[in-house]
Amino acid sequence: MRAKINGRTLGTRPPAFTESPVEPLSWLAGAHQDQLALCDSLEAIADSLPDEINRGTCAYAAKMIGPMIRDLHAGEERLVFAWIKQRFPDDTSVHALLERLKYEHCEDECFAEELTEMLGHLGAADRTVNAETAGYMLRGFFTNVRRHIRFEQECLRSMLVRRSGETPC
Ligand SMILES: [Fe+2]
Repeated sequence: MRAKINGRTLGTRPPAFTESPVEPLSWLAGAHQDQLALCDSLEAIADSLPDEINRGTCAYAAKMIGPMIRDLHAGEERLVFAWIKQRFPDDTSVHALLERLKYEHCEDECFAEELTEMLGHLGAADRTVNAETAGYMLRGFFTNVRRHIRFEQECLRSMLVRRSGETPC
């Protein structure tokens, strides 16, 4: 999937990569880039509230945010996390970290579903939407996603290049 919000191209990464050790890092970097671009677009929507809002952008964001976040998280877990587990099969701290990251994915996917509904109402010019609440929800989501990505980048990337047996974070 490739998509655009506010002129930015967003989308999911290619579904598979080779077994080269560089590929999981490269795939993850691209997935993070797409999620950060989504965050920037959602921040622009939040900044446009209540009077400068683009209804078409909101309607489009409502349609793509859920599938995009779910697809990218599924790719991370299926491709990157599985690749890490293979390389640290007996490291319980690595496994615990991956479980924590998966839990955060789950939380963000639930949050994205709530945003889908709210963005849909904004896109449909539903005047019952409270702009302050909408802005709070948007900022909560993209702040969380950015924080998750920073944490994931710090932990996963360093873990992948470290030798087995060292502390991952
Ligand atoms: Fe993640």
